[in-house]
Amino acid sequence: MNGPVLEIDDLVVEARSSDKQVRIVDGVSFAVHAGRTLGLVGESGSGKSVTCLSLLGLPPRGVSVTGGRILFDGCDLRGRTPAELNALRGREIGMILQDPMTSLNPLLTIGRQITEMFRYRDGIKSREEREARAIDLLQQVRIPAPESRLNSYPHQFSGGMRQRVAIAMNLACNPRLLIADEPTTALDITVRLQILDLLREVQTERGTAIVLVTHDLHLVRRYCDDVAVMYAGRIVEQGPVEQVFARPRHPYTKGLLGAVPRLFSAQRRLTVIPGQPPLPGSIAEGCRFAPRCPRAQADCLSAYPATRDIDTNRTVACWHPEPEEMAPEPLLATEAS
Ligand SMILES: Nc1ncnc2c1ncn2[C@@H]1O[C@H](COP(=O)(O)OP(=O)(O)O)[C@@H](O)[C@H]1O
Ligand code: SF4
Ligand SMILES: [Mg+2]
Repeated sequence: MNGPVLEIDDLVVEARSSDKQVRIVDGVSFAVHAGRTLGLVGESGSGKSVTCLSLLGLPPRGVSVTGGRILFDGCDLRGRTPAELNALRGREIGMILQDPMTSLNPLLTIGRQITEMFRYRDGIKSREEREARAIDLLQQVRIPAPESRLNSYPHQFSGGMRQRVAIAMNLACNPRLLIADEPTTALDITVRLQILDLLREVQTERGTAIVLVTHDLHLVRRYCDDVAVMYAGRIVEQGPVEQVFARPRHPYTKGLLGAVPRLFSAQRRLTVIPGQPPLPGSIAEGCRFAPRCPRAQADCLSAYPATRDIDTNRTVACWHPEPEEMAPEPLLATEAS
């Protein structure tokens, strides 16, 4: 199949609060192809997690998808039953969250959790075979001496090792799509890179499509092919990472890139975007970034800028985008590598 593995089209997600509906995600669209990674970035509260959980059919309590399409292999997941979605999540769609404890059972040994999966999901009857597979799986994610770790409980592993186990259990399903929501945020930088290197290896081998949510633009630079920048429930800019980072067109993207400390620069912080994003429910007419935008003009307050194409595979939602000329030096060029 040549189409995208995942295509989100005009997704709207709302929360019910006492008497009114509040829009948390407002018309988000993106696509991810096999073997490619889309980075989803934006400040805390912009709706990244709600987008991911909604597309997995797991919106938080009181929150529901009220518009748009979620196409997996071209078929809309909206309208599927919870049982169907559950089956899909166990096999075709993997998810890795910030805290791997949410996907591991603290009361069962790692070996038990993995072998039970082989027993019930794959119907493997022989205990020896299930154990051999579990060891093989832990080896794939570079857990040292896996034979001796089968009897350990999740709390006996370090955070990085737990995340590897969670990844291993996802890989056992050989998913076509992997949603990773800040999978390495809790880990130190070395482990972070090891885990993401591992995911990339697996992706190269199996052609997995990955959505990587992160607030670390260095990681986007290093691991993502495309990037979608979210602000207050909308995607404000989207495109290939190299192009967007070299020539950001949305003032918010430019601000985010400018706020990243440069690893090898004497000046640790270049600029910080002043102000705070609006809370859902308090959103005014017009562009949501206007109160913080250095390029804002009177017309920005009267109507929300529609998303428009500015190049092949590139979109921006801004009335007065940054000029097109090359940035003096590519932002975040090679610093994280
Ligand atoms: N269960 C919920 N009910 C109401 N609002 C929610 C709920 N969960 C999240 N939100 C709101 O949705 C917005 C987006 O949250 P989230 O997706 O977690 O942001 P991000 O992952 O980008 O930091 C936030 O303003 C948050 O307060
Ligand atoms: S539409 Fe106006 S306020 Fe919004 S980002 Fe563009 S220039 Fe700034
Ligand atoms: Mg989040």
